[in-house]
Amino acid sequence: MSESSPTSRSEPFKAPVGTRDVLPPESARWQALVATFALQAGGAGYGFVQSPMFEDIGVFNRVGEGTDLVRKEMYDFLDKGERHIALRPEGTASVARAFVQHRPTTPWKVWYAAPSFRYERPQAGRYRQHHQLGLEAIGSDDPDLDVEVIALLHDLYVSIGLRRFRLLVNSMGTAEDRLRYVADVREWLSVRADHLDPADAAKIAEHPLRVLDSKRPTTIAALVDVPRITDRLSGPAAERFTRVREGLDALGIEHVVEPRLVRGLDYYTHTTFEFVSDALDAAQSTIGGGGRYDGLVTALGGPDTPGVGFGTGIERVLLACDAEGVFAVDRPLVDVYVVDTTGGAVARDLVTELRRAGIAADRAFDARSMKSQMKSADRSGAALVCIVGVDELAAGTVTVRDLRRDHDQTTLDRAGVVGAISERLARQDHQ
Ligand code: HAM
Repeated sequence: MSESSPTSRSEPFKAPVGTRDVLPPESARWQALVATFALQAGGAGYGFVQSPMFEDIGVFNRVGEGTDLVRKEMYDFLDKGERHIALRPEGTASVARAFVQHRPTTPWKVWYAAPSFRYERPQAGRYRQHHQLGLEAIGSDDPDLDVEVIALLHDLYVSIGLRRFRLLVNSMGTAEDRLRYVADVREWLSVRADHLDPADAAKIAEHPLRVLDSKRPTTIAALVDVPRITDRLSGPAAERFTRVREGLDALGIEHVVEPRLVRGLDYYTHTTFEFVSDALDAAQSTIGGGGRYDGLVTALGGPDTPGVGFGTGIERVLLACDAEGVFAVDRPLVDVYVVDTTGGAVARDLVTELRRAGIAADRAFDARSMKSQMKSADRSGAALVCIVGVDELAAGTVTVRDLRRDHDQTTLDRAGVVGAISERLARQDHQ
C-alpha cells in the first residue's frame, strides 16, 4: 500500500504542494476580477473561449523545445489509451490549436479565464496550478492590435485600482531577425562563458536567449553589454515597433523599452511586453505578459497567421491588490434572513418563495435557538429578517424586522409577505 493512501495516513489530506484552495470571502474578489475582465474583453469585441484543460503534448511542445516550461515543467502522462497528454501550462498554444482546428473568420478575438499547470518550485506568488485571465487576437498583423491588447491589460489593472506597476516593452523582430539575434547572442556569450553562472553557461549552445532571462546575479552582472535586439531590428520591424510605441504614447500608457525582455516562451516575434508590480517581491513581480506570436499557428499545422495576446495571473494580480490595499470586494450579502423556531418548514418554503421572486434569502438549519438564528441573521448582512415563532405560526403571520432602521417591526400576513417584501426592497433601492 502506498505511503499516502488514506488508510495508512494519520494526517488528513491537504491540497497538493503548490496548489491552493480559493475560499470565501477571498473567492468573491476572484469572481469580481473575472467579471471585470469579462465585461472589459466582451466590450472590446472578444468572445469567451474554453478549450480542454489537457491536450496532446505536441501542442505545448510548440511553445519551444528550449523553454523551461517544455523541458522541466510539463504535467504530462500517458492516458489509458497510451496517448501522451499534458495539462495546459499556458493558454496561447491551446487557443492557437483551436484556431487551426476550427478556422474561424479573422481577426478572431477571444478571451479566457483558465487554470494552467507548471511543475515549478512553489513559493509565494508561484504555484503549480495558477489561473490566467488572457486574451488572444489571431489573424491580423496590424501594430494597432498590439496596442489594443496592451491597452486592455493596462486598463484592467487601472480599473481595479492598481497604480504601482510598470510596463516593459521590447521587439523580437521578424522570425529572421530573431534567428540572427540568437546567433549573435550565442557568439557573444560563448566568448564570455567564464563570467557567467555555470548553470547559465550550460545553456549557451542550445538556448542562448534563456541566459538573458537569468535571475542569477553573476550572470546579470556579465550581461551589461549584451547585444540589444532593438539595435538589430530590420527596417520594417523597427518601424512596426515605433508604431506600437507611438500608439501607447497616444493612449497615455507609460512604458519603458527593455531590450532584454525575451520572455520565457519561444514563440514570440515582434512585440513582447510585461507588466511588473513594484508592490510585489521582485522574484515574482510580473503580473502579466504577452506579445506577438506570428509563427505559432503555422507551427501547429495551420496557415501562416499572425497572433497577439496576453496572460495575467489571477493570484499575482490579487497579491498586488493586497500589497497596494486596493480592490476590496464586499462579500455577497442576502436581502432577507428567515428565522423560524417552529421546526423549519416555514423557513424552507419562505426562502424558496423569496428566491423565486428574485430576492436573495438565507436561513438557519438544524432547529437552532432564536438567539443563535438572530446572530446568523446579523452576520448575513440582510436588511430584513422574517421571524416565525409559535404565535406567528398560529396566526398565519410573519414578523418582519428591519435590521438597518432601528429594528422597526411589522407583522404581515404569511400569504402576502413575499409581495410586501418585494415592494419594500424596491422602495429602499430608490431611496
Ligand atoms: P507567462 O508570462 O508564462 O505567459 O504567464 C503569464 C502570467 O501568468 C505571468 O505574468 C504570471 O502573472 C502568471 N504566472 C505564470 N506562471 C505562474 C505560476 N507558476 N504561478 C502563478 N502565476 C503564474 C503566458 O503564459 C503566455 N501564454 C501569455 C501570452 C498570451 N502571450 C501571448 N498571448
